[in-house]
Amino acid sequence: MADETYVKYSRALSFRRVDAHHDAALLIRFGRDLYRRSLGKEGAFYRDYGRYGVNFPVWIGTCASANPAFAKFLEEDGAEIGLVVLGFDERDRDIGRVHHFYVTPDHRGQGFGGILDDYARDVLKDAGAHRARLNVTARNRRAIRFYQAQGWAEKERRGGLIFMETRL
Ligand SMILES: CC(C)(COP(=O)(O)OP(=O)(O)OC[C@H]1O[C@@H](n2cnc3c(N)ncnc32)[C@H](O)[C@@H]1OP(=O)(O)O)[C@@H](O)C(=O)NCCC(=O)NCCS
Repeated sequence: MADETYVKYSRALSFRRVDAHHDAALLIRFGRDLYRRSLGKEGAFYRDYGRYGVNFPVWIGTCASANPAFAKFLEEDGAEIGLVVLGFDERDRDIGRVHHFYVTPDHRGQGFGGILDDYARDVLKDAGAHRARLNVTARNRRAIRFYQAQGWAEKERRGGLIFMETRL
């Protein structure tokens, strides 16, 4: 008789609110890697966020205090595997901003970015935005392909950056 052993495997995904103080070390680790992927080096991370990158979690904390849904970790079985940071355009609240999408290296290429993108669209739409914008470095080809596949369109290129937009 055949072996009837049945193994069920499912992954529990959830979003967790970022606590800028408690999660500071993890946020800095994610931020450093994000800059490495975007620019090929981490130096600009310390230039933008100060020594040890301490201002990165502080800044994400301000996004979370504007709206708790604007800064979330994506967790798989309780472990952080992604980060999404959102906001509004400073001059036009019709326009939502995706400040960061980040998936940890060993979870890339498995569709988790699409879950972050769906989340961002829902949250920004619920918050009242009708369009969303982001920018990506021109050298980050994989991220650009990802955005195009998710329906983002290039609007402008300036200073090594590509500005992209989507309707919500
Ligand atoms: C960009 C990013 C958010 C996309 O998320 P994702 O979960 O990897 O998205 P997908 O699963 O749809 O895969 C995206 C592409 O990476 C490819 N990929 C496959 N294996 C991969 C791996 N091990 N690592 C990275 N990308 C991989 C996918 O095949 C896909 O390429 P394709 O469009 O040519 O098919 C994620 O890769 C990431 O966090 N990158 C580093 C940080 C970054 O660049 N963020 C954006 C800054 S603007």
